[in-house]
Amino acid sequence: MSLIHQETKLNFEYYRRKFIERRIKARMIRVDCNTLEAYYGYINSTPTELDIFLDRFSINYTYFFRNWDVFEKLNNIIIECFNYKCNTLFYDFKPDPSKIKEKTKNKQKTTRKTTKYSQNGISSKRLDTNRYLLQNNYYVKKTSLHKKINNPKLNNNSIKIWSCPCATGEEPYTIAMILNNLEKQIKSFPQYKIVASDIDKAAIEKANLAVYNDDSVKETSKYFKNRYFSKKREHYGDKYFLTEEIKRKVDFFCEDITKGHQNRWKYDIILCRYLLIYFNKENREVFLKMLDRHLELGGLLILGKTETLFNTYNNFKLVDAINHIYLKIK
Ligand SMILES: C[S@@+](CC[C@H](N)C(=O)[O-])C[C@H]1O[C@@H](n2cnc3c(N)ncnc32)[C@H](O)[C@@H]1O
Repeated sequence: MSLIHQETKLNFEYYRRKFIERRIKARMIRVDCNTLEAYYGYINSTPTELDIFLDRFSINYTYFFRNWDVFEKLNNIIIECFNYKCNTLFYDFKPDPSKIKEKTKNKQKTTRKTTKYSQNGISSKRLDTNRYLLQNNYYVKKTSLHKKINNPKLNNNSIKIWSCPCATGEEPYTIAMILNNLEKQIKSFPQYKIVASDIDKAAIEKANLAVYNDDSVKETSKYFKNRYFSKKREHYGDKYFLTEEIKRKVDFFCEDITKGHQNRWKYDIILCRYLLIYFNKENREVFLKMLDRHLELGGLLILGKTETLFNTYNNFKLVDAINHIYLKIK
């Protein structure tokens, strides 16, 4: 395995051993190799295999508004930073009901949670100030977002967001749509920069292209779909073209995050969803320290539904136990 490791130049030691083994085995079965030695030989004798291995190694499954309540929460945090002044904002995160039905069949548990959320009235076109007060968002005032939004004269006050890893771009573009939607409705909305990175070159190319299929928009509400996509019927199904305005909002680059981040910036928000699950315990720590260095004091680390740290983890404090949002407190 160490020979395959050398060939790929990936930091295998970061990943859970079982994950690596599964990825290699899947490829071995595909190319009919019974032993690791045979597969190593195959890599050396087949010039295209290394690229194919690297391509299959990463699982870049993603879609717009994945676990949409996380994005709704982020939308609400930003609005709250404006001190509840804007009570006629428009947005809607609830996906098409027919898609929710489909999801119920497949993933009953997740859908139940979603339904409960929408019954709570959190998803509504009109911002309801009282409902916000009922949610315990005490931490919003401690965020660097709040500081920047409320001190427009601060040096370098543009909001910085990093989606890591971004796969084919749906996650950072979702953020861009949310900010653009708010920007159009809130006077003196601050400047913002969104960067997004992934190890997978082909995924980044697809992100820059920004043409998606039905599956990518399955959790996108009509509200966002109508505003930010144009749809074209093609031979193999519908294609969704993201508007140029949103495409321009995100800077993509390819990097292996286990080897560090190429920007020196400190971010107000880092989204790191569906990556930690692949990392082993020791290197998770190393990785989290790196994220910590790239977060502003008061920055938010969003791990999403599936990944979690302890309630207080080094400099991070859990402030939202559903969406696993952590506030950098020191
Ligand atoms: C399942 S996707 C997550 C995308 C998005 N964050 C989401 O939640 O929908 C996982 C991504 O992690 C990327 N990845 C895996 N190892 C990486 C590494 N060392 N550096 C950067 N990206 C990596 C993969 O290429 C893949 O695109």
